[in-house]
Amino acid sequence: MKIRARLGMSVDGYVTTPTGWPAHTADPAFVSGESHGIREFLGGCEAALMGRTTFEPALTNDRWPWPNLDVFVLGSHRPAGTPDHVVTDSDPERLLEKIRAANRGGAVHLVGGPRTIQTFHALGALDTLELVVVPLLFGGGTQLTPALDPSLGLTFHSERALSGGSVEIVYTCKGSRSSLPSSPASQR
Ligand SMILES: NC(=O)c1ccc[n+]([C@@H]2O[C@H](COP(=O)([O-])OP(=O)(O)OC[C@H]3O[C@@H](n4cnc5c(N)ncnc54)[C@H](OP(=O)(O)O)[C@@H]3O)[C@@H](O)[C@H]2O)c1
Repeated sequence: MKIRARLGMSVDGYVTTPTGWPAHTADPAFVSGESHGIREFLGGCEAALMGRTTFEPALTNDRWPWPNLDVFVLGSHRPAGTPDHVVTDSDPERLLEKIRAANRGGAVHLVGGPRTIQTFHALGALDTLELVVVPLLFGGGTQLTPALDPSLGLTFHSERALSGGSVEIVYTCKGSRSSLPSSPASQR
């Protein structure tokens, strides 16, 4: 089982807009339904993992964002209206055990945010950090650091140009207990 953090980021390094929305949602390519590579990515995933702050807005979405995935949420309480199939826990190690117990071999999409990525990195459970840099400057918002420890060791794995001007960059993380197969892009 691999835990793959994948998130959008502006060219000036913000993972949220100044008003707190995930970076890629501000990209016209996202609004027009282009995928930012997410469809291919999710093809290898069976679960989504996130912090309560990232999870809560989904409860009032018109559309459930993770229709084909098991969903795990780290947070001190179970937000009102959380569907029965969503697993919540306040303890990251216990939640990780539940994810491992449920896993059927697919990857886990660690959706974010930075605090939850750091939490699972600190447990040695973060395998990749995958950034989709969207062609926008925000001038403000939330950065990956300082919530994510700047000493996180990153080893380049691959890069890919996406339609709409975004670029996907994949790093494997120091401390990860598993590794990705090499890709054609990483051999350039
Ligand atoms: N760019 C993207 O693709 C992307 C993706 C996802 C999220 N985001 C953005 O990221 C922002 C949220 O990020 P965030 O880092 O502030 O919040 P977060 O990681 O989504 O959630 C933080 C919450 O998770 C729980 N948590 C995290 N670490 C914990 C630990 N070690 N032990 C126990 N509980 C823990 C806590 O819940 P309790 O408070 O309940 O204890 C904490 O308040 C949002 O603005 C969202 O839009 C962007």
